[in-house]
Amino acid sequence: MSDDIHPVTDPWDPGATRPSAAWNASEEPSGMRPDDESTGGRLSDEDVRAGYDRPVGATETTTANRRWWDAEAEAYYAEHGAFLGDADLVWGPEGVREESLGVLGELEGRLVLEFGAGAAQGARYAADRGARVVATDLSMGMLRRAARIDAARGDAAPCSEQEAGPMVPLAQADACALPFPDDTFDIVFSAYGAVPFVADGALLVRECARVLRPGGRLVFSTTHPIRWAFPDAPGEAGLTATMSYFDRTPYSERSDAGLEYAEHHRTLGDRIRDIAAAGLRLVDLVEPEWPAENTATWGGWSPLRGRLLPGTAIFVCEKETVPRDARPGR
Ligand SMILES: C[S@@+](CC[C@H](N)C(=O)[O-])C[C@H]1O[C@@H](n2cnc3c(N)ncnc32)[C@H](O)[C@@H]1O
Repeated sequence: MSDDIHPVTDPWDPGATRPSAAWNASEEPSGMRPDDESTGGRLSDEDVRAGYDRPVGATETTTANRRWWDAEAEAYYAEHGAFLGDADLVWGPEGVREESLGVLGELEGRLVLEFGAGAAQGARYAADRGARVVATDLSMGMLRRAARIDAARGDAAPCSEQEAGPMVPLAQADACALPFPDDTFDIVFSAYGAVPFVADGALLVRECARVLRPGGRLVFSTTHPIRWAFPDAPGEAGLTATMSYFDRTPYSERSDAGLEYAEHHRTLGDRIRDIAAAGLRLVDLVEPEWPAENTATWGGWSPLRGRLLPGTAIFVCEKETVPRDARPGR
């Protein structure tokens, strides 16, 4: 089976779950970065100037992060794939799973979008529970990894789609410009996809709200905003605040070639205002506690820090059925 990525024009067409037409997307060349354990596969310390020292625009963020995730895709899967599971929805490094949290609600028969899907593990989880899904991501490298997982699942159970699980339709898309009509999906979600990596967090939430049908659900997890104030270190050094929580200047990595990578910060208040402004209602804000049985470290997330500080925030929102400005009395 080809591991090409296919575009999705009609994700809720049952035929789209095993599309026959492959899409030969033109892929931007992306240079592999040296794999250095201490920097998670990024350029070495000598090559990169990292800091919180200047603003980074939306376009340069998207271009740099797409290249970075393309280059990082295989190393990321090698490091985290087993923890995530190929058809599971893990909300963050704490290891809290949708199976136990249940924040997406009923999945059977629902039209579901996973944005910033990476290797589409969450979309596969939803598809296995009867949802009609589509998974999108900025990085072709991540989507190719997703297609390989689907191909391997198909090979492992070649007799029937039921045994293999449905194949996930994949499309390359910036989460801030989703290629879907308004009011399309019942559920839109992401586990750490796109949200920490876009310059305009408000635009991203508006875009998710746009493609959600009234009454539909948006759930996304991301780095808990409080983490911004602390060094990204799993040990004792990560327990002392060294940055202002209120400083929105992004984290960026630059080489002589330009921007290599960027992460953007929004405070908790910023995120909640973005959600309200997009016509969504926040129905829950889950701060998963670190489970005693999880002894794994993921970057700066660790059992030590997890005992003291939240590492992940999961925002659970619903799209208003009547737009705020159309309500009586307004
Ligand atoms: C930490 S991974 C999360 C993916 C998956 N849920 C996981 O846990 O592995 C972040 C993903 O966000 C994607 N991403 C970054 N910026 C994006 C953007 N602007 N639009 C869509 N996806 C983006 C990256 O390509 C990457 O696949």
